[in-house]
Amino acid sequence: MESHTSRLWLQAMGITVWARRGPVAAAPALESDTDAQGWGRLEEEVRACVRCGLHAGRTQTVFGVGPHTATWCFVGEAPGAEEDRRGEPFVGRAGHLLDAMLRALALNRKEVFIANVLKCRPPGNRDPQPSEVAACLPFLRAQIAAVRPRIVVALGRFAAQSLLATDLPLSRLRGSLHHYEGVPVVVTYHPAYLLRRPADKAAAWADLKRAQEIATHE
Ligand code: URA
Repeated sequence: MESHTSRLWLQAMGITVWARRGPVAAAPALESDTDAQGWGRLEEEVRACVRCGLHAGRTQTVFGVGPHTATWCFVGEAPGAEEDRRGEPFVGRAGHLLDAMLRALALNRKEVFIANVLKCRPPGNRDPQPSEVAACLPFLRAQIAAVRPRIVVALGRFAAQSLLATDLPLSRLRGSLHHYEGVPVVVTYHPAYLLRRPADKAAAWADLKRAQEIATHE
């Protein structure tokens, strides 16, 4: 059965599930200063990036948050208006739902790494263009290579297709275990989609439980 806390957060997500939850893997201890320096350089490179036209319209880049030694990595699409303003991913309405999803997994924002495929906001929150994804993806690749998480959760079609280099629809990508550079990848719905289609939250929770099993046991 879920813990009391998980049940409360599942309620906040709008779903009730009674499956058993495994223990959560602790994040490994911080590694060397060299790693921290490399991470700082990457952050600086993102901050100064002019690889695509999106730099012209940004308030600031949105690098990502969380320890560079996190066990879990959540990948979204691109910053929205609130993220562009605050410089942090998933801080708008979708972010509040992501926080609830994390709490349901007995995780919190401070212990997981959260980033987007794009580090700059597309105007009007339009879909990322292939050239923008191509320009920005090396940053996410470098982040995942540095973090070496035990599990990556791809939130929505853009994250999944970009990471897995495929055109397959989300419906074909969900429900299977994928790998990115040897790291297990679970694909689930984007929180913004779940806000529009709450009926799919139960399916998203099943995806997250699968990710938790992998992070904990595999
Ligand atoms: N949607 C995303 O994909 N990323 C964010 O940071 C916010 C909303």
